Formats: sequence, structure tokens, C-alpha cells
Amino acid sequence: MKIDILSLFPDMFSGPMHESIVGKAIEDHLLDIDVTNFRDYSSNKHNNVDDYPYGGGAGMLLQPQPIFDAMAAIDETNQQLPKGRVIILDPGGKPFNQKMAENFASESHLTFICGHYEGYDERIKTLATDEVSLGDYVLTGGELAAMVMIDATVRLLPGVLGNEESAPGDSFSTGLLEYPQYSRPADFRGMQVPEVLLNGNHQLIAQWRRKQALKRTLQKRPDLLDKIKLDRKDFELLEE
Ligand code: ADE
Repeated sequence: MKIDILSLFPDMFSGPMHESIVGKAIEDHLLDIDVTNFRDYSSNKHNNVDDYPYGGGAGMLLQPQPIFDAMAAIDETNQQLPKGRVIILDPGGKPFNQKMAENFASESHLTFICGHYEGYDERIKTLATDEVSLGDYVLTGGELAAMVMIDATVRLLPGVLGNEESAPGDSFSTGLLEYPQYSRPADFRGMQVPEVLLNGNHQLIAQWRRKQALKRTLQKRPDLLDKIKLDRKDFELLEE
């Protein structure tokens, strides 16, 4: 996968995108990340990228010219790649979720546009296939949001997670929160691992895990239960 990022603060990516699993994906040539500072494309003699909003109001807006020209340069470099998705980071976008990460992971090229200041000149949004928000809060810019989305996407690429790390029971991949897990020792300072996990009966273990995942989701995130289909057995487990 190729990821292009347009940002006024490219250094923000230099540490986080080169550590741990994302860093390893780059080392293993499963991922290539290019960060472009769109200030370098400003046609303004002071290299400005923002201006006051028409109609008045507080703050500054990112102007279209530097971002359009940076995108044209990126397209030129990536001629051999499919266009993929262009994601603009904006608190007014659709809230990011696991389904979006799965969709992003099926592309071979993603471009993230990170805004700063008060927002974007609306015409910049014509470049984007998706307007996405990390959540209902305002960050100082789109960089941290882009990094979170890249992290969630890259771990889904084939070959990125080793078998030991890969988790088909991941929270959200089943639509439920993850069931509780335990490792050794079986007794830690008097806190016991549930007996069912120690007896090697895989059917009973699977049932216990499903029940715990259902109960946990009902308790902490009941909204998630509206989005999935539960069967009769699930309702029985919840009533036990
Ligand atoms: N830029 C500022 N706040 C943001 C948010 N919540 N999501 C995405 N981009 C942002």
C-alpha cells in the first residue's frame, strides 16, 4: 500500500510512523508513506497557505491553491497507481470506525489531507472521496487523526500482523467488544483465572467467551448491539 500525506507539519509523522507494527510494515516493503508539506507549493511570495474567510468571522482558512498544486504533484508521482481514496481530515466529517479501516485496507493507494487553522476553503473538499473525523472533539490539526486512521488500516493489511498478534476476535471485528483474556499465572495475588479456561473444553470455552463478549457489550456499549444480529442462543447466554 502507498500512503501520501499532505501536512504542514511533516515532522509529526517521523517518529510514530516508524515504530512498532507500522514501522515494521514499512521495513518489510508492505507499506510506503510519503509526506508532502503543501507549504512548499504555495505560490504566495511569503509561502502563506491561509487567508481570512470571505464574509468575515474569526480565524483563517486553508486556501485551495497550495493543496491543489501539491495534489497534482502527488498524482504525477503516482501515475502507475490507481487513484484510490483521498481522505480529508475534518471534525465535521463522518466518524471513523472499524468498517472504514477495513475499506481503506482494501485500497492500494490512500491520500490523507491534514488541515490546520480554522478549517478549509470548501473548494478543497472537491479533491476528497471521503471527509472523515476521528471523533466529536476538535484537535489542533488533522495529523494525529490521520495517524490513528493509518494505524488502524495498516494492521489489517495481509502480512502486517504475525499470527500471534492477529486477533480475529478483535473488538469490533465481531461487532462486539472483546471477551476477557488471561495469561499465566492461573492465580495472581489471589485473583483467579476463570475455571472454564483451564479445562481445555473448547466448546465450553467458546460459549463462555461469547457470553462474556455479549455481557460486556451490553454493559459498556449497548449501542453496538443495535447494529448486529443476535440469535436465540445469544439471548439465552445473556439471560444466564
Ligand atoms: N481536525 C481537527 N479535529 C479533527 C477531528 N476530530 N478529526 C479529524 N480531523 C480533525
